[in-house]
Amino acid sequence: MDIEKIRNDFKILDKGVIYLDSAATSLTPDCVVNAVIGYYNDYNANIERGVYSFSQEASKEYEEAHQKVAHFLGASEEEIVFTKNCTYGINLVANALKFKKGDNIVTTLLEHHSNYLPWLRLRDRYGVEVKRIKPSKEGFFNLKDFKEAIDSNTKIVAVTHVSNCLGTIIPVFEISEIAHKNNALFLVDGAQSAPHFSINLKELGCDFFSCSGHKMLGPTGTGVLYIKKELWDKIEPFEIGGGMIKSVDIDDFTTADGWEKFEAGTPNIAGGIGLGAAVEYLNKIDMKNIEEYERKLTIKMMEGMKKIKNLIILGPDDPEKRTGVIPFKVPNMSPHEIAFVLDEVANIAIRSGLHCCHPLHNSVLNEPDGTARASLYFYNSEEEVDIFIQTLKEVM
Ligand code: ALA
Repeated sequence: MDIEKIRNDFKILDKGVIYLDSAATSLTPDCVVNAVIGYYNDYNANIERGVYSFSQEASKEYEEAHQKVAHFLGASEEEIVFTKNCTYGINLVANALKFKKGDNIVTTLLEHHSNYLPWLRLRDRYGVEVKRIKPSKEGFFNLKDFKEAIDSNTKIVAVTHVSNCLGTIIPVFEISEIAHKNNALFLVDGAQSAPHFSINLKELGCDFFSCSGHKMLGPTGTGVLYIKKELWDKIEPFEIGGGMIKSVDIDDFTTADGWEKFEAGTPNIAGGIGLGAAVEYLNKIDMKNIEEYERKLTIKMMEGMKKIKNLIILGPDDPEKRTGVIPFKVPNMSPHEIAFVLDEVANIAIRSGLHCCHPLHNSVLNEPDGTARASLYFYNSEEEVDIFIQTLKEVM
């Protein structure tokens, strides 16, 4: 991987920012920006509604973007619904399934609020029980806890693939087996996994997989929801209206097949086309190379941080069990102070606070102020990691 060449594809890096907040949103390469501009400048039209050439071209590009994302995730085109973000995809599933009193839902205390609150609301709405599995402070689970919690009344199990707070990689395939043995559905929050390692949804064992487009080089306002083919007929679309039907009569309607059924109204056409360009770019670099390089950077960053006296790193120590999301604490400095000072003195961007995971910080980590969090992506350089470590030392 030629990092210098890759960095030239990201214009924003000319501004000298050391961007270590890719877990929040990634930077955007020229090919994605150009794909979005290309739609507006060259063939701006609504999709699937016009016989004229611009509309045909826009429809073709938007459909191809679904194909590219399907290929990227190892799914078929029909199974890939474009959403506005990962949160939306999970809400779509939570609102599309039917629940009855006596059902239960199994999720965890490691979850981002996106994969927590939609399930809690169902408890309040339908009186279903929401069981929450507690991880260790490193974000690890004991599979026995899932075996005990999941039973014949479990409707769905919803678990993150990678913790956005701790970087911990979760063995979702093993959890899917427990869920499916009990005839429960299985949803994976892939916001922090899909951008960083190769995903094959046919092998992962999930029924639903939601991820963000904007965390994997796509435009903001883009996300992806995979719905396994076998479930299409069982899942009611959450929104209905234009674009998602085959036919409508005065009293009734029949829905379109595949993703169209779940994309009511005019979608984010430019965003979807931009997302197609993003995954094409990732595929060209190859997710295997990205994973390998990010692991090397993570090891370098953790080793450097460990040498700083009094600095505490959270999450797994073993780099094989985590991604490049590295939360840390500095005694006598709040996470926001650390983030503020790093930005002021060296133009380093990190996230600080509770990272949309209040239950984890309050009930597992006992860190009510949260952490400072540096998160890496493949466009970060070793030199940036050195500057980050050096600056952190000076700040402390
Ligand atoms: N989920 C994003 C994060 O962890 C926003 O920062």
